[in-house]
Amino acid sequence: MPLEPRLVPPPTKGVSSAAKVLDDWYVACESTALGSKPLAVTFLGTPIAVFRRADGTPAAVLDRCPHRNVPLSMGKVRGPNIECGYHGWQFDGDGRCKAIPGLCGEVDKGTGRNVPAFATREHDGWVWVYATPDVTPERDPYRLPLRDDDRYTTVYQALDMAGSLHATAENALDVPHTAFLHSGLFREDGERQQIDVEMRRHHDMVEAEYFGEQRPEGLLGKVLAPGGGDFEVRHVDRFILPCIAQVEYQLGEGHIIATTALTPISDYETRLFGAAEFRFPYLSARFMPTKTIVNALKPLALKVLGQDAAALKKQTRNVQRFGGEQYVSTEIDVLGPEILRLLRQAERGARRPPRERPETKRLQMLV
Ligand code: FES
Ligand SMILES: [Fe+2]
Repeated sequence: MPLEPRLVPPPTKGVSSAAKVLDDWYVACESTALGSKPLAVTFLGTPIAVFRRADGTPAAVLDRCPHRNVPLSMGKVRGPNIECGYHGWQFDGDGRCKAIPGLCGEVDKGTGRNVPAFATREHDGWVWVYATPDVTPERDPYRLPLRDDDRYTTVYQALDMAGSLHATAENALDVPHTAFLHSGLFREDGERQQIDVEMRRHHDMVEAEYFGEQRPEGLLGKVLAPGGGDFEVRHVDRFILPCIAQVEYQLGEGHIIATTALTPISDYETRLFGAAEFRFPYLSARFMPTKTIVNALKPLALKVLGQDAAALKKQTRNVQRFGGEQYVSTEIDVLGPEILRLLRQAERGARRPPRERPETKRLQMLV
């Protein structure tokens, strides 16, 4: 009997980890990127024009003039308003139509001429936009944890990742890939060590703390501890709804919190806004100015980010090739499934109420 041709069925068609959490804040741009001209940004598939009013405060409106659909981002800022580049209609930061050049009658007439406006905030070097227009947000955007501590230096970097917010967040917080994708940078080949992990679930965040980790080997270790040296390592990774992936390392006296705010541009494109806050007193004491430390670490960080970006791009292409996602996780995929659970709850408007104690789970892994 002739064999039937068999194709691998695509069992995952349509399965997607893309999440649309709309009742929360995302970073629209770095503060330094918003000058006197409006800026076009897209998030969650929606084009938005962000502008800096003459008094310096940011505002954001839908990037479509209600008159003839031209992007407002191609216009200009006029005092407190954004002016459309086509016929000069002006809109204030609340989206109200304030000027229609040449019109003899009333300008501010009902809401039909208005444009949807998004709440904005600016702090810690980023401009945040609330994802739902024309509402007053109930919560505030995330604040960088060490912003008021002048012992710390903050360095910013933005980068586009070809992956969903979930995949990008998981990648930022995933330990098992470091020995492979970033081989030689974090850990050198050799014996694996067993370490303990404590995973803590809070109502709006999940974190994993790693105990018993060795000081970083590879290039990172050489930069952080040029003469070798023993120091205790404390390592915590966290995801905070809706978009914060954060890695914290305490290396003896040295301390670094690398926060990435992830803005989903579309289902499979995520803009990563990174801020690393750090202090390395033992390096500074060896007359190594902060600038030297930054110059030493930046190429390394960019190399790691580049490797992550390349892997995410391939992952996304494959998801598209197969028409959907399929995940098989084990318990050492500590945070990925938890991040998705939090995103799905938030997407459904079913965030858990705050609770005093997190649920905890302990496990072991080899690193
Ligand atoms: S299209 Fe904007 S003013 Fe006409
Ligand atoms: Fe990575």
